[in-house]
Amino acid sequence: MPQIFARSANGITRFVLWGGVCTMLLVATAGTALLRSSFLTGVGEAAAQPVPFSHKHHVGQLGIDCRYCHNGVETSNSAGLPATEICMTCHSQLYTNAAMLAPIRTSLARSQPLHWQRVNSVPDFVYFNHSIHVNKGVACETCHGAVDDMPLMARAEPLSMEWCLGCHRDPEPNLRPPQDAFLMHWNPPEDIAKIRQSLVKLLDVHPETMTDCYVCHR
Ligand code: HEC
Ligand code: HEC
Ligand code: HEC
Ligand code: HEC
Ligand code: HEC
Repeated sequence: MPQIFARSANGITRFVLWGGVCTMLLVATAGTALLRSSFLTGVGEAAAQPVPFSHKHHVGQLGIDCRYCHNGVETSNSAGLPATEICMTCHSQLYTNAAMLAPIRTSLARSQPLHWQRVNSVPDFVYFNHSIHVNKGVACETCHGAVDDMPLMARAEPLSMEWCLGCHRDPEPNLRPPQDAFLMHWNPPEDIAKIRQSLVKLLDVHPETMTDCYVCHR
């Protein structure tokens, strides 16, 4: 048999093959890093809003309760976003001519709700429910971070399946008395470990079934 390839081709083939394997590994690693990075999960990125509403001012400084504006949070799946009328309870008297608030005045005049950009969302095939979490003592802060420090709202957690499961496997360390679920920068009392143990029983939290697929995919 005549030799078609020079002896050195062996080396070249090996070089090309290994090069290919290495490139694939690199792409896979970079892909995973990208998926977990803030670029795709959006963690820490503020969304541009029609009005630059500040939780830092309204919650951190004025001390308005979450439920004043997110009134579905204890009773339904969605926390809900405030109607323009809620802003106007104060801003019909305060900052009435501010250019920043022009979209609110237009919204009220035309009875068209403001189009707030969504910051947190899960895909349609995921079932999420606010009232269950809040009533079982999982705080806003635990999933949304220190919103009272946010001049513009940004996502605090990736909201990935892995993230949900991390808590569902072992919820106890994330519980607090449900009436404290709305507080920011909460300081747990000294006997919190005992309180959490009794909360699991009192609120009937059952981690044995919380990781079943049908809980979140129904
Ligand atoms: C005076 C009204 C008001 C109060 C009080 C308020 N919010 Fe909001 N919240 C808004 C408005 C308006 C938006 C939509 C604009 C934005 O994302 O900043 C919003 C958005 C949010 C979002 C993001 C929604 C999304 O698109 O994912 C979270 C999370 C949130 N608020 C949590 C809280 C928590 C927690 C509290 C209490 C500690 C609170 N808010 C108190 C008005 C309010
Ligand atoms: C309970 C009264 C109250 C309600 C309700 C309220 N605001 Fe305000 N808002 C204030 C006060 C007071 C200030 C001035 C804060 C400052 O300058 O320290 C303010 C300031 C603002 C500003 C100017 C920028 C800033 O943050 O200082 C914007 C924009 C604003 N509010 C938007 C809204 C929107 C949108 C809503 C409805 C979702 C709303 N506000 C509901 C009292 C309120
Ligand atoms: C266990 C985690 C968790 C807790 C606790 C939690 N949230 Fe959320 N929140 C989410 C997720 C996940 C979404 C996205 C839901 C979706 O896409 O349907 C969301 C969305 C929101 C939104 C956007 C509008 C909506 O209803 O979807 C607001 C506003 C909000 N949360 C406010 C709050 C407030 C206020 C509290 C505390 C009283 C709170 N959340 C507690 C995880 C949580
Ligand atoms: C920090 C803790 C924590 C996080 C994060 C969390 N959960 Fe939960 N979740 C709980 C607790 C506690 C319960 C109440 C469990 C019980 O009643 O046994 C619960 C209950 C639920 C339920 C109702 C289960 C039932 O019995 O019907 C659903 C649905 C759910 N979670 C979905 C999600 C999804 C989707 C995510 C992520 C986007 C998520 N949860 C993130 C703690 C958490
Ligand atoms: C505690 C809630 C929760 C439970 C329990 C859960 N999932 Fe998910 N799952 C999610 C969330 C949230 C997403 C969306 C993740 C995203 O958007 O990145 C998801 C996404 C998925 C996807 C889409 C691909 C992906 O990874 O994003 C598949 C497939 C899936 N889940 C299968 C399952 C199976 C099978 C089980 C049971 C072994 C299960 N899930 C249990 C919350 C849950």
